[in-house]
Amino acid sequence: MKRIAHLIAGTTIILGIAHVSPAAAVGEMPDKQTCASAKSGIIAGGCIATDREKGNCMACHSFTGIERTRLQAGNIGPPLVAVKARYPSQKRLREQVVDASQFNPHTVMPLFGKYRILTDNEIDLIVQWLYSL
Ligand code: HEC
Repeated sequence: MKRIAHLIAGTTIILGIAHVSPAAAVGEMPDKQTCASAKSGIIAGGCIATDREKGNCMACHSFTGIERTRLQAGNIGPPLVAVKARYPSQKRLREQVVDASQFNPHTVMPLFGKYRILTDNEIDLIVQWLYSL
């Protein structure tokens, strides 16, 4: 009986892996393969934002859909929610990511553009992703 239970558990795990959809919906954490092939758009932006060696935004922020990922949200910064409603233009949003010190000289948010932590293209993609939250 125990062996059968193990077998069932094993099969479920294998089926679970097979079910990872290649094109994750917005807010879901896309798998590594999807991230590697996503060169543009919201998904690519989300991949960069949640890459620990790139944006690592979740170190300080929660964001819409994070509960559907395995990521743990930080609470040093405000939750990134309803971004489009709060930012009438992407320009102001981009400036926040490029150089947060413009708006708060004592900010702890990394100056992603100013210190070249991210490239212009990476920031553009992150802004697209932010606008979808
Ligand atoms: C080390 C912590 C930290 C990291 C990492 C960080 N932020 Fe922030 N962020 C903050 C804090 C704190 C604020 C609040 C404003 C301030 O103090 O400058 C903020 C504010 C913001 C705001 C404006 C607040 C709002 O909801 O309108 C946006 C947008 C934002 N961050 C996006 C990002 C993105 C995108 C990333 C990743 C590329 C990121 N942040 C990474 C700490 C961080």
